[in-house]
Amino acid sequence: MRLVISHGRKTIGLTAAIFLNSALCALGIQHAAAAEPQLEKAIQDGKTLFVHETFGGSGMTCESCHLNGGVGSGQSPKRSTIPSLSNSGTIYPRFEAKKNKVITLEEKIQNCVAGALRGKPPAYGSEQMTQLVTYVTSLAQGKPLNLGGKPE
Ligand code: HEC
Repeated sequence: MRLVISHGRKTIGLTAAIFLNSALCALGIQHAAAAEPQLEKAIQDGKTLFVHETFGGSGMTCESCHLNGGVGSGQSPKRSTIPSLSNSGTIYPRFEAKKNKVITLEEKIQNCVAGALRGKPPAYGSEQMTQLVTYVTSLAQGKPLNLGGKPE
């Protein structure tokens, strides 16, 4: 008789554990689903900045040099080769041997805004920087990390 009761309790315990587990799973899935529209929005907002924003500079936008939303490679008016940004997300943070320093994607984007666009770079952690980094990283979605890799 005792055995049957404790067996019964075990069954209840196990059922409760399974229920709790699936409830937690459902919560997790809901959380991920809720986060994705925000991610999608950050990517889209980043693309809009990439194509239209001049950052108060000389009138160019990122896309003036980085063609096709950044996936195409091109040439600047001064004939320097402009890399495609399609793998930037995989090669940053980038180790720069000359400076013995790691350059983040944020710093690289700030350099491009200040140097190439002659504009005021968005601050590290700002909404604009978050959107640009998210957009540029999205271009490399699914590609493996490539420490020391070259721009495509
Ligand atoms: C006047 C042309 C020009 C404009 C405008 C420009 N860039 Fe660049 N960008 C370059 C050149 C040239 C390079 C490659 C040389 C270098 O690494 O500095 C480069 C490199 C980069 C890289 C590093 C690529 C890699 O994989 O190593 C990123 C990221 C980047 N640009 C992002 C941007 C973003 C974002 C904007 C707009 C805010 C922008 N650039 C605007 C010319 C430009």
